[in-house]
This record gives sequence, C-alpha cells and structure tokens, in this order.
Amino acid sequence: MNNEAIGVFDSGLGGLTAVREMLEILPNENIVYFGDTGRVPYGSKSTRTISKYAMQDARFLKKQGVKMIVAACGTVSSVAPDLTEELGVPYTGVVYPTCFTAIRATKTGRIGVIGTAATIASHSYKNRIRQKHPEFTVIEQACPLYVPLVENGMTDPDDEIVRLIVSRYMAVMKENRVDAIILGCTHYPLLTEAISREMGPDVTLIDSGKETALYTKKILEENHLLRDEPSAPDARYFVSDTPADFEKYAGIFLKRNIENRVQQINIEEY
Ligand code: DGL
Repeated sequence: MNNEAIGVFDSGLGGLTAVREMLEILPNENIVYFGDTGRVPYGSKSTRTISKYAMQDARFLKKQGVKMIVAACGTVSSVAPDLTEELGVPYTGVVYPTCFTAIRATKTGRIGVIGTAATIASHSYKNRIRQKHPEFTVIEQACPLYVPLVENGMTDPDDEIVRLIVSRYMAVMKENRVDAIILGCTHYPLLTEAISREMGPDVTLIDSGKETALYTKKILEENHLLRDEPSAPDARYFVSDTPADFEKYAGIFLKRNIENRVQQINIEEY
C-alpha cells in the first residue's frame, strides 16, 4: 500500500482525459496534475525540446512526492525517452495501453492513428501495432489544429468551424475504410462527439487518456501501491501560466468545480 498521489502531466488540458477516468476507476486515490499551459502545444516542437519539457514536468511531480508518474501525453510518450530509471517510481506513457486496445477492437485490421505532428512523424503507434501484427494496415494523420480548438474550449460538434476541421482531417480515414481510430493525442477525446459524427457508428474510437488510466490502475495493483486510507482523497492541479482558462475548461470537462484550486508554478525551476 502507498498513500502518496498519482502524478499526471500533459502540455495542457489533454491529460485530464486520463484524470477523468482515474476519478471513476480509482476513486480512493490522490492525484497531482500538471498542465504545461505556458508551453502548449508540444506537438509542433522538436524531440529535444519535448524531451526537456517532459523531464521538467516529471521532476516537478516527483518533488510533490508522487508514487507513480503518468505522461498523459501522446507526444511525450512518442518522442521523449522512457523516464522510469531516472525517476525511480513507476512511469508510463499512453502508446502501449492504447495500441493494446486498438488491436483488440479492430475487426478488419485497418486502424487509423491521429495525433500531433511530432507523434505522427515518430510512427510510435504504427510501429507498436505492426510489431505485433505486421499484416495490419495503419493509416496515420497529423491533426495540428485539434489542440488549439480544445485549449480554446471549441469542442461543440455543432460548431461549423469544428465540423469543417474534423471533416478535413478525417477524409483520409474514410477513404481508407478504417474500422478503429486511435485518438493518439490526449486532447482529442474532447472532440469525440465531433469525430464520431463524422466517421459514423461503425468506427470505434480509442481514447488514449482512458486506456492509460486503466493501465495505471493495473500497474498500481500489480505493485501493491493502491491507497488504503479511509479519508477522502484530494486532487491538486498545477499549471505553468495563468490558471483562469484552465480552471474554466477543466471544471466543465471534469464536471467538478476547481475554481481557485489551480496553482501556477514556474516549471523552468525544475
Ligand atoms: N495532449 C498532448 C498529446 O497527447 C499534447 C498536445 C500538444 O501539446 O501538442 O500529444
């Protein structure tokens, strides 16, 4: 048993897709979340910069005394080195658990992967799937406009701009008749409704945040790290820029009021 918090980080709001699931499936756990809102987006940056950011984010969480660190970020998981040894606590990204579920979900062996430019250029998801199933077809598409939409709260599937952008990026998935799509950036599940309307009910969308939360639970169980205190758990949120927008959109997404509960930190100190 270990009563310390789970540390989760992302460039902004995206990692909350993992947190939302953790609040459901690990309701007795403390959570410390860091969103690097001062430096979002990560997906258009170089491997070197993303790796530096990932290290700083993880070091900040380690300082909070967490028992496990989750890079709830497809970009970090795809291009930054594995930080397990450096951190000395269990560490996971999103690629492995998400691919595992996609492989089980497809019936036709035709899987789509959408992610940031850095993620798609790394072929992280495709390589992982093809390692197990060289016969599968994997169609990749970078969607660089999705993160700014989400960070600005533009996720309404009836919004004309959202519909246009989604339809532009999803065209290649339709052409290639995929039957499962990996939402390979943790921001993208906030656009699930819009993507699902565009693709139709026969295409399964795989939520990288959710799959990573399920995998986190598995790791905690296997390592006997679940919290056993009876007191109510706590979730703390930190960002690297002004908290106002994060508080507003995170509160809506998590369906809980986190006003005045988000603290700004200087990530360059880590
Ligand atoms: N949510 C992140 C990801 O999963 C980062 C997106 C970005 O900052 O570009 O890739």
